[in-house]
Amino acid sequence: MTHTTTPDDLLAPLVPDVFAQRLVELGVPHGWIDDVLRHAAGLTEPRREHLRACAAVLDGLAGGTAGMPEYPSGPAAGLDFVVLFAGLLPRLRRLEALRRVDPLITAATVADLGRHLAVHRGRHGTLGFDEQQWFGLHITGQLHQVGRLQFQRLTAGTAAAEVGAAGGKVTPEDVVLSVHIPRFLGPMSPAACDAAIARAHGFFAQHFPADRITAAVCWSWLLDPQLDERLPHSNIAAFQHRFTPMGSPRVDDRAPLNFGFVRPDLPLDEQPRSTSLERTVLDVLQDGGHWHIGAGWFPW
Ligand SMILES: CC(C)(COP(=O)(O)OP(=O)(O)OC[C@H]1O[C@@H](n2cnc3c(N)ncnc32)[C@H](O)[C@@H]1OP(=O)(O)O)[C@@H](O)C(=O)NCCC(=O)NCCS
Repeated sequence: MTHTTTPDDLLAPLVPDVFAQRLVELGVPHGWIDDVLRHAAGLTEPRREHLRACAAVLDGLAGGTAGMPEYPSGPAAGLDFVVLFAGLLPRLRRLEALRRVDPLITAATVADLGRHLAVHRGRHGTLGFDEQQWFGLHITGQLHQVGRLQFQRLTAGTAAAEVGAAGGKVTPEDVVLSVHIPRFLGPMSPAACDAAIARAHGFFAQHFPADRITAAVCWSWLLDPQLDERLPHSNIAAFQHRFTPMGSPRVDDRAPLNFGFVRPDLPLDEQPRSTSLERTVLDVLQDGGHWHIGAGWFPW
């Protein structure tokens, strides 16, 4: 993709009403818009320059934020990136218009940023953002929310190789779609997932006609086989059944706490036990067991 970010895009935060509207589109709650505006107005020129350098790298990337200049971590840096992503929104809109993507899909996709502000607020009680890597995919047009699910185009061939090793008929040139499950969108019922996958078939055929898509993959704590064993009638189990396992599940006790609990930092015996998932996650850990990131694929 050519370098289309203009300095004006990134200076747009200086026009508060334009910037505020972009923040709304990114899912920033109204109660925090003025805080982010103040943050943007207070960005020093060296920090702004650093963000422009990050933007230039994002322009040249196939997706994600790997390869961006080093940037300080912490809540303030996260908000710097909210400013950056608001600055890059017009660029994404231009890219999606060239692809003839429905602006409603783009709107649903970028509103994911607000979900992560909500997650941060649940954990820390404050305005903050720490998903710069993740949102790099959205803002560079590599990931789309289609109905209940998000789909990320993987073009590097490594996912295709994994699917191939697990018995899938794929070539290294094939595009593989990585499926993600956003929170705050209600249950992931089989009907909602069927509808999203059916819509995504049409979406990718129409907007990415050059892609030869042969498989969908997922790497997730939701694919730990213990969830199927312990919650066999759940939506999570039904979701697992779509996938043929790929490789061996990798131990990760943090993932179910991070995704299944508002305050993953709390001791296990202080966590809520009101749902069957909460009880299952906690029982395994309190009995000395482990959780895993599972991986799976299905033909597209
Ligand atoms: C994935 C997700 C949408 C599944 O929700 P769901 O469709 O309601 O899931 P299920 O129907 O299988 O849930 C079974 C039980 O777990 C509960 N449950 C599901 N997700 C829960 C969550 N995040 N926190 C607490 N309980 C949850 C359900 O309420 C249900 O409880 P019950 O049996 O007591 O009624 C939900 O867990 C979620 O939003 N997770 C965060 C996002 C995520 O994990 N994405 C994948 C990242 S790799």
